Amino acid sequence: MMSNLPTRLRKNKYIRSLVQETHLSLNDFVQPIFVTYSSIKTEINYMPGQFHIPLNGIELEIERIVKSGIKAILLFGIPEKKDEVGTDAFNNNGIIQKAVRKIKKYFPNLIIITDVCFCQYTNHGHCGIIETDGVINRKKSLMYLTKQVISHADSGVDFVAPSCMIDEMVLTIRRSLDNKNYENVGIISYSVKFSSSFYGPFRSAVNSVPKFGDRKSYQLNPGNTREPLLEAKLDEKEGADIIMIKPALSYLDIIHQVKNIIRCPIAAYQVSGEYSMIKATASKGWINENDCILESLTSIKRAGADLIFTYFATKLSKII
Ligand code: PBG
Repeated sequence: MMSNLPTRLRKNKYIRSLVQETHLSLNDFVQPIFVTYSSIKTEINYMPGQFHIPLNGIELEIERIVKSGIKAILLFGIPEKKDEVGTDAFNNNGIIQKAVRKIKKYFPNLIIITDVCFCQYTNHGHCGIIETDGVINRKKSLMYLTKQVISHADSGVDFVAPSCMIDEMVLTIRRSLDNKNYENVGIISYSVKFSSSFYGPFRSAVNSVPKFGDRKSYQLNPGNTREPLLEAKLDEKEGADIIMIKPALSYLDIIHQVKNIIRCPIAAYQVSGEYSMIKATASKGWINENDCILESLTSIKRAGADLIFTYFATKLSKII
């Protein structure tokens, strides 16, 4: 009988790289960044290496990202004031709108994606407009979401990324963009967003912990598979250009399954808690940071993600 010895293909690094199936490329990554009105750049408490970046002088930070070879950023804004309906989210002179205009002026080829949601902008910290009974009003939320999206498009954004998990958000956004002749503004939908404790460091960074209740009535139950598949299918039908799954590492099976039923590109978001776990453990010397970054990102790609949102993006040029 012929001897079948799989280790022949692992003998040295040249053979290993010859047969490697999944490769990381700087073209696949999106760097999320946090913009503030504050005048100084400050490190985010639970996310060492990530910063609150002042709007004033943001072009210097962006230049660093562009020079690292990263081609796309995801913008989060931290407003000065919060209120019931998140007014700053759709203000033409809000933090995001100003940031987008500024960045586009300096870096017209950088792809700008904006997170579209309400939790950073509302005083209750929920992702939509809340009624007196504490429940999100879907129609009202969609109306305010439209205003937010159009103000981002007016500022020159390339893609909007709705993350509020409101039913028919993609349909509503696509229609309103088309009505305003923004056919070229795309939608990256956070279609499959699980109700996850891995968002903890992010919520602390943008001060968006809900003041009452939790997000379980709109974000997905980690115990389910059929529900996320339905969400992904609906969003593709409603006109999403890219479907996102989030978090990434605990949901590799979902990435794989969504990839099998969806034709548009699949994004995965390695979220704040996933970032902080690697940073914290590595800072104790318990794991090797760069090796774990590459291994985690490779597994996300192998599962089926075409592009990956990660706080490690800018750093990758030094370690890939
Ligand atoms: C806003 C939003 C969240 C994240 C991205 N967009 C937080 C949430 O839903 O609570 C999480 C990102 C991260 O943890 O890195 N809705």
